[in-house]
Amino acid sequence: MIRSVVRGFGAHLPEKVMRNRDLEGVVETSDEWIIQRTGIRQRYIAGEHETTASLGEMAARAALDRAGMTPGDIDLIICATSTPDNTFPATAVNIQNRLGMHHGAAFDLQAVCSGFVFAVTTADSYIKSGLAKRVLVIGAETFSRILDWTDRTTCVLFGDGAGAIVLEAEEGEGTIADRGVLSAHLRSDGAHREKLYVDGGPSTTGTVGYLRMEGREVFKHAVGMITDVIEAAYDATGLGSDDIDWFVPHQANRRIIDASARKLGIADQKVVITVDIHGNTSAASIPLALNEAAADGRIKTGDLVLLEAMGGGFTWGSVLLRW
Ligand code: UT7
Repeated sequence: MIRSVVRGFGAHLPEKVMRNRDLEGVVETSDEWIIQRTGIRQRYIAGEHETTASLGEMAARAALDRAGMTPGDIDLIICATSTPDNTFPATAVNIQNRLGMHHGAAFDLQAVCSGFVFAVTTADSYIKSGLAKRVLVIGAETFSRILDWTDRTTCVLFGDGAGAIVLEAEEGEGTIADRGVLSAHLRSDGAHREKLYVDGGPSTTGTVGYLRMEGREVFKHAVGMITDVIEAAYDATGLGSDDIDWFVPHQANRRIIDASARKLGIADQKVVITVDIHGNTSAASIPLALNEAAADGRIKTGDLVLLEAMGGGFTWGSVLLRW
């Protein structure tokens, strides 16, 4: 059986750090409120010359370096983003060009905060079907550009950044001992649109628009949806929380992460937390967290890693993989 195995990982953050205290002069908020309600201490904000594609390119280069590959080795780029440089062409195609890559294919995937989980699942399907051998999967965002900086209920939560992995086809035994993606479960339900959306777009207002969120409503659904797709991963593989080495969730809110881990019986020391330093970077949050935990030696070859995300749409999903 063909498996999609992680060969490299990388990330890139904007130069500018914005701490909670810096936001106290922007909206009526406090460092204490933000930390207590979200766990966020700081986030990175893209400068004038930084864009989703420039951040994505740097993350992609880092992932290729770690994989010992060049753009010439890649046959597909998928970039998960909801903040593309332009309505079109796709940011993935922009990144492809920046990498000097003029073969293969590149496209964007839009599933908001679940974007990276959707992109890994899509890459895995391309690899399993034989349509691609080496896929560069990027999560890159500049949410600072779609925030209403007068709305304290949203502007304190999000940040910018990019992360990437390289997935490569490898022959496996078809058992859970294989390296690579072992299970993937994706869900969406558009009935929840009004709870988290952007109030503009090319086909409606002709503007880019701003992010709008009923945070409490999203929070209410988050833990249930997250546990649903993780239990689906456990059912599909016969694995459970005790088998997981690392839980790498979407980093929206420390309270959501802690509540999900508690409900699933995942021990605290197995949970990778980066929301404190990155804020919510939407599709970039999981690859940024993977990069932290793999670069500092926590995630090692052979470890069982559980990814999950939930976000606008709603969309939600899980990926269980052996590193
Ligand atoms: O990644 C995509 C998915 N998104 C999420 O997962 C986000 C899910 N939601 C959340 O993380 C949380 O709901 C928030 C962090 C957004 C808000 O936390 P909360 O505990 O649900 O707070 P709340 O919305 O119930 O607000 C509590 C109070 C309100 O004041 P009143 O009505 O009780 O007087 C807010 O107006 O906190 C107030 N508030 C703030 N105060 C200081 C809201 N934002 C702020 C702020 N600073 N930035």
